[in-house]
Amino acid sequence: MQSPYELREHALSQLQAGPRGWLEGGVLKGSTRYLNATDLESTAIVPNVQDLPLYEKNVTSDLLRGALIVCPMGHLTQFHADGELGVARASHELGIAYSISAMSRYDPSRLKPYFSDSVSLQIYPLGIDHVLAEIEAAKKLGIQTIVITVDGPSVGLNYNKHGKYDARKVGAYHTKRITRNSQRGDCRVGINDYLRIRDAFDGTLVVKGIMSTLDAKRFLSFGYDKLWISNHGGRVFESNVSSATALKTIRSNFVTDCELVVDGGVLTGMDVLRYIGLGADKVGIGRLIIYGLIIGGYAGVRDILGNLLNELDLCFRQSGHTNIETLRMNTYIKKRD
Ligand SMILES: Cc1cc2nc3c(=O)[nH]c(=O)nc-3n(C[C@H](O)[C@H](O)[C@H](O)COP(=O)(O)O)c2cc1C
Repeated sequence: MQSPYELREHALSQLQAGPRGWLEGGVLKGSTRYLNATDLESTAIVPNVQDLPLYEKNVTSDLLRGALIVCPMGHLTQFHADGELGVARASHELGIAYSISAMSRYDPSRLKPYFSDSVSLQIYPLGIDHVLAEIEAAKKLGIQTIVITVDGPSVGLNYNKHGKYDARKVGAYHTKRITRNSQRGDCRVGINDYLRIRDAFDGTLVVKGIMSTLDAKRFLSFGYDKLWISNHGGRVFESNVSSATALKTIRSNFVTDCELVVDGGVLTGMDVLRYIGLGADKVGIGRLIIYGLIIGGYAGVRDILGNLLNELDLCFRQSGHTNIETLRMNTYIKKRD
């Protein structure tokens, strides 16, 4: 079996210049993405050596399976013909939550065979009319959770570094609408619109792209149910803080039991455990999924997710912690000199 690092190299070597630029690009040097990875690697867990009976139990099952969510990622057919359908099917089969991207290559109704309560639809706030129409469409599909991504679908400076890829030309279902809205200059929403969005949807409303306590408090005061800490994998802003740091700060500034999702830089089960230790309830899996898709389509994604669950189970047991509380009390980000 390849390590995730070898898998990434192998997957990237299979890509043409255009899709590779879309996957890797967006910003100049990739400083935020680098910080996501290094802060995560610098996150240490002090093991607990007192509760040895844990080794005899299998702790994964529902607890750890419920800790994963497949991130919304658009235009997946450029990486493999199975695209979003393959990712939805693999996540569904393994009982792992999945968020459908606003930039999905498909009309979300085509993914319906793979819907469950844990499937969410992601929407970019590109004009209030656009968002309200998407919410109505989601309701008709029976979707119970909506994710509003506020870090923007900004086309970064450097998407075309490795060659040209123009998302508008591949006929993506949602991108056409988003482009039309942007052309009309109607692609901003303000505070009142975020309140209207809350009013328009009775289900669970998640805001994705929160990196500060200020924004976290603001969206909770609007009545949003969950916060998704994310810097979009470092793809949209060169100089952000890391997701690990933002998570630690936001969790320590809240005494509430607000559910926190986090993503950025996850390649291994240990990375997932580190984010849980830093305060996450759910951990988003991003590019790792795409590496699996590139290598093996639907089956590749299923293998990636299955391996991740096994690793997570092993790492949790090796840590010796029998519950999330003691794990969190013993997880910290090591200071750099
Ligand atoms: C190719 C690609 C497409 C993405 N498309 C979307 C999207 O449509 N909507 C969204 O909210 N986030 C999108 N993201 C961001 C991911 O949801 C997630 O926040 C990020 O990839 C996590 O970081 P990681 O890739 O380092 O794991 C995309 C990321 C990538 C790499």
